[in-house]
Amino acid sequence: MAHKPFKAVIPAAGLGTRFLPATKAMPKEMLPVVDKPAIQYVVEEAVSAGIEDVLIIIGRNKNNIANHFDSMPELEVKLREKGDLDRLAKVEHSTDLADIHMVRQGEPKGLGHAVLRARSHVGDHPFAVLLGDDLIDERDPLLTTMLGEYDRHGASVVALMEVDPDQVHLYGVAAVEATDTDGVVKITGLVEKPKKEDAPSNYAVIGRYVLGPEIFDVLEHTEPGKGGEIQLTDALQEQAADPDAGVYGVVFGGRRYDTGDKLDYIKAIVQLASDREDLGAELRPWLKDFAAGL
Ligand code: UTP
Repeated sequence: MAHKPFKAVIPAAGLGTRFLPATKAMPKEMLPVVDKPAIQYVVEEAVSAGIEDVLIIIGRNKNNIANHFDSMPELEVKLREKGDLDRLAKVEHSTDLADIHMVRQGEPKGLGHAVLRARSHVGDHPFAVLLGDDLIDERDPLLTTMLGEYDRHGASVVALMEVDPDQVHLYGVAAVEATDTDGVVKITGLVEKPKKEDAPSNYAVIGRYVLGPEIFDVLEHTEPGKGGEIQLTDALQEQAADPDAGVYGVVFGGRRYDTGDKLDYIKAIVQLASDREDLGAELRPWLKDFAAGL
């Protein structure tokens, strides 16, 4: 690795309109998935990939996120007095996880705009962008693979997933060509949320990116695109079209949960809870009975 250590950037300043009214006074990244807010899984994923410095882009309702990663002395004292060391460890864990920083995005002008807010903190480090409402199962080490591909190519790397053609209008979609590595493609073009008939493929960009600091210069002049927002996809399209830059895709076939979507959020909770040692043994037979009665 001939570059400075990777940092992580977690944009969490969107309006979360698909989840109203729950997200009226709380960012969707704070919705609990079993017993942890979604964003904690994402911070843990960055830490498991070896990243120690995490910047969260916050919007309105910022205090919820900041408080979660801060220490909570009254609660810690109470738990210690009660001898509830298990819960104490859980409370302290979110504070000790990583070196966490926050920066505000005044107005939600798009994901590209949110990433640009990270510029002064990230400096000349390469960095991973992890969307705070997109969970990758901890058993599938996608981010580690992506960091390795960044090291190999020295170019932007995005995570891709094959989706049903009826779903392409929900994602950035990539035109791709094969490379000599299985599961890694070169991206020749990117379109944000295309109609099914205009989509170059069914390879959808999911919420993980590994970028070099050069992306900030591109974002500085990226005009608002789809939905009037500054789109990260448009900046990546510019890099994909530039022979001196380039963008690679790691095709992910593992477990992903989109907690910004109501139905996927419910599925995520059921799947993760049934896999848990403390809950699964009781939940799985209940689910079977429940499904049999439908
Ligand atoms: P989404 O488009 O999924 O988030 O953005 P949203 O706009 O909050 O959701 P809906 O569609 O209204 O329900 C993807 C990610 O980028 C962040 C969001 O918080 C989410 O993690 N984001 C988006 C920002 O941080 N700032 C923005 O201006 C837009």
